[in-house]
Amino acid sequence: MSGTTSVGGTPVSNTLFRTKSVEQSIRDTEEPEHALKKSLSALDLTVFGVGVIIGTGIFVLTGKIAKETAGPAVALAFVVAGLVCALAALCYAEFASTVPVAGSAYTFSYASLGEFPAWIIGWDLILELALGCAVVAVGWSGYMRSLLDTAGMHLPQTLSGTHDGKFGFDLLACVLVLVLTGILVAGMKLSSRVTNVIVAVKVTVVLLVIIVGAFFITGANYDPFVPPSEPAEGGGGITAPLVQLMFGFTPSHFGVMGIFTAAAVVFFAFIGFDIVATAAEETHNPQRDVPRGIIGSLLICTILYVAVSIVVTGMQKYSELSTDAPLADAFKAVGHPFWAGLISFGAAVGLTSVCMILLLGQTRVFFAMSRDGLLPLTFSKVHPTFGTPYRSTVLLGGIVAVVAGFTSIDELAELVNIGTLFAFVVVALGVIVLRKQRPDLPRSFRTPLVPYVPILSVLASLWLMLNLPAETWLRFGVWMVLGVVIYFAYGRSHSRLHARDAHASDAP
Ligand code: ALA
Repeated sequence: MSGTTSVGGTPVSNTLFRTKSVEQSIRDTEEPEHALKKSLSALDLTVFGVGVIIGTGIFVLTGKIAKETAGPAVALAFVVAGLVCALAALCYAEFASTVPVAGSAYTFSYASLGEFPAWIIGWDLILELALGCAVVAVGWSGYMRSLLDTAGMHLPQTLSGTHDGKFGFDLLACVLVLVLTGILVAGMKLSSRVTNVIVAVKVTVVLLVIIVGAFFITGANYDPFVPPSEPAEGGGGITAPLVQLMFGFTPSHFGVMGIFTAAAVVFFAFIGFDIVATAAEETHNPQRDVPRGIIGSLLICTILYVAVSIVVTGMQKYSELSTDAPLADAFKAVGHPFWAGLISFGAAVGLTSVCMILLLGQTRVFFAMSRDGLLPLTFSKVHPTFGTPYRSTVLLGGIVAVVAGFTSIDELAELVNIGTLFAFVVVALGVIVLRKQRPDLPRSFRTPLVPYVPILSVLASLWLMLNLPAETWLRFGVWMVLGVVIYFAYGRSHSRLHARDAHASDAP
C-alpha cells in the first residue's frame, strides 16, 4: 500500500465532501497510540450481537405494542421490522467487510460519501447509542425494582425514577451505567467474557418463555389476529405517525396500518446488529467474521421474537397484556408465578448486556470521530495498559448515567429508532457510491443485486421512519441542526483531512 495521500482515490479537495480513503482509515488504526486490541472472533461477535439485540424491545415493548397498536399481529410487525433490518444488514455487511475500522456507519460514510455526511451520521449514531443505552438502563431498573419488591425491599419513590408525572431520580439505572463504564475501561476481553455469561442466561429465558409458554396457549386469544382499526384518541396531532398526517388518513390504531406503526416501534428490538460492525477493528479477521456476526445474530433474534410474540399473545388476550413486564406477567396470568419470577430475573440480567454494548458502540463512534479530529483529539488516546479508549468511555458513560437517572422510556425509544433508520439510509446509499468510486477494493462480502437491494433498503427504512410520530421527526430535526452547528464551528477546521488539504495546497 502506498504511503502518499494522492493515490487510492482520495480526492485532495477542501470541500464538505472530502473523503478519507479506505487505505487511510486502515492505516490510522495501526498507529500505536490509537490502536485498539484485536481480540474478538466471529463467535464473539455473534454473541455480542445477540447480547445487544435481545432487550427492552422484546421484554417490554411487545406487550405495550400488542395492547395498544397491533394486537396478536405484533408478530407480523416483528417480521416487517426484521425484513427492514435484513436489507440494511446486507449493506452493513459489505461496508464492514470493506472498511474494517472502528466507528460503524460513521467510518463507512467517511470513506464513501465524504466528511460532512460522515459527521452527520456520527452525530446521529451518538443519539442512537446514548439514548438507546439510557432507555435500556431505565427498563433494567424497572425489572430490578420489581424483583426487589418481591424480596420485600422497596426503594423510596424519589429514587425510583419518574412515574405518572411524578419526578424521581432513577438511582439503579444511573448506578448500572457507571458500573458498566468501569468494566469497559478495564478492557474488551473482560467485557466480552461477562457478555457471554449474560447472553446465555438471556437466551435461556427467552427459550423458556417460548417452550413453557406454548403449553398455556388458548386459541381464542388469537381472534381477531389483526384487530379492526379504531380512531386514535385525541385525533393524533403531532403524536400521530407522519405518514397518516401526510396522506390525510384519520390517525388510528390497529388494522393493517397498525402493523406498520407497530413495526416502527418494535424496530427498537432489532437495534444492535449494526453495532457488531463498530467492533470490526477489534476483530481477528474482520473480512470474514463481521458479516457472519451481523447476519447470524439478526437471524437468530428474528426467529426468537416472532416465536415469543406468538406465544405471549396466545397465553393472554392482547388487551389484557401488561405494559411493564408482559412476558413475566403472562405467566402470572395463567397461574405460574414461579416462571414469572425466573423470567423477570433473566430479563434484568439480559438488559445489562444490552446496556453495556450500546455504551461500547457509542464510545467507539466517539473515539473514531475524535481520531479524525472532528471532535477534540484528546478523546482518542488509548489507555497504556488496558488498550481501551478510556477518556471517551468515561466522558460518555458519565453523561449517559445522568440521562438515565433523569429520563423515562417512552418517546426516547422512538427517537432512537428514527436515528437508527436514518443511519441505515446513509449506509445503503454509501454501498452504491463506494461500488462506483472504488470498484477495485477487495470485498469479502458483497451485497447481492446492487443497486436494487440498497435502494430497497433505503425505501424500507424511509417507510418505517414515516410511520413514526411527527413529534419524533421534530426532535430528531433539532438534534441534527445542533450537529450541523458544531461541525461548522469546530469539526470542519480541526479535521485531520483539513490539515492534509492545507498542507497539500502549500506544497509547490
Ligand atoms: N435491541 C435492543 C433492545 O431491544 C436495543 O433493547
